[in-house]
Amino acid sequence: TFTNRVFSGIQPSGDLHLGNYLGAIRRFVPLQDTHDCIYCVVDMHAITVWQDPDDLRRATREVAAAYVAAGIDPKRAIIFNQSQVMQHAELAWIFNCVARIGWMNRMTQFKDKAGKNSENVSLGLLAYPSLMAADILLYKATHVPVGDDQKQHLELTRDIAAKFNNDYAASIAAQNVGQDDGSFFPITEPLIAGPATRIMSLRDGTKKMSKSDPSDQSRISLLDNADGIAKKIKKATTDPEPLPETVEGLAGRPEADNLVGIYAALSDQSKTQVIAEFGGKGWGTFKPALADLAVSVLGPMGEEMRRLVEDTTTIDAILRDGAERARALAEATMVDVRSIVGF
Ligand code: ADP
Ligand code: NA
Repeated sequence: TFTNRVFSGIQPSGDLHLGNYLGAIRRFVPLQDTHDCIYCVVDMHAITVWQDPDDLRRATREVAAAYVAAGIDPKRAIIFNQSQVMQHAELAWIFNCVARIGWMNRMTQFKDKAGKNSENVSLGLLAYPSLMAADILLYKATHVPVGDDQKQHLELTRDIAAKFNNDYAASIAAQNVGQDDGSFFPITEPLIAGPATRIMSLRDGTKKMSKSDPSDQSRISLLDNADGIAKKIKKATTDPEPLPETVEGLAGRPEADNLVGIYAALSDQSKTQVIAEFGGKGWGTFKPALADLAVSVLGPMGEEMRRLVEDTTTIDAILRDGAERARALAEATMVDVRSIVGF
């Protein structure tokens, strides 16, 4: 049987925001108590679209700093950047030869990111899920905490693992490297939970809060100071109605639902609990409460992040140590994979 192991990653491709924190980083922290955790800065994913090299270096340190500032302990969890463990690229190539082009063409994120321009985006953008499968399966991770925007990619990881296990079943047996059931790679499970799987833009409750929309000034950056955070919350778009008396009343009110979800996630409550406290109250009451809560959580974290980003010696040492530990695990998998494939 496989060790209970979590893998997840964040791209160093722009300013980290509240969605990345609530949908990903915050949820990584408690998993340290129950799983072996590997948290990656996926810089090889980032370059599927153009990244200025200096910006990429800075953003890589920023993601690592966010992990640490949020409470991930680099001694317990492995924190590293993808490009420092070349086995990711090696396994991704093998998976490129296992996965089918049709599988990639069906990915909604590819369609969204490529838009009408699908002939003139990088080949890497199309193959992105194959590299993601390599990230996860290199460590035989059993669980991946993801926002629901990544659910389809994780399904593809499961498909690749199953096809590899099946295509190479005879070789896995011959090399004697399989589990009791004959499989080599686990079929990784998603961990999608909590009220904040999808944080929406504070300007438009129907759009995801995302790094890749530079025109959206409403986005709360993890590097924003207390004043900036409070201002953005107070300016958030809402409908004119007060908060509903019951949680069902949030249906069809995307902005209200989003702000209540943010409050719930930041205070480790359910939306029902938040509505029990604020149901029937107006935005003039709720927004300042949410702003105070957000500042109390994000303020100290942002401060620690800004300090760590300046302390490049510490961050680089964390990434170097993490890469060494990751490389040892990755190489153990690749020794078997190479022999399974016939290299
Ligand atoms: P982005 O989507 O901002 O470019 P990434 O693709 O690097 O960021 O995603 C990093 C992590 O943050 C993923 O686990 C993703 O599911 C999560 N995430 C990104 N945006 C949101 C959001 N708006 N709400 C919840 N989780 C999000
Ligand atoms: Na994303």
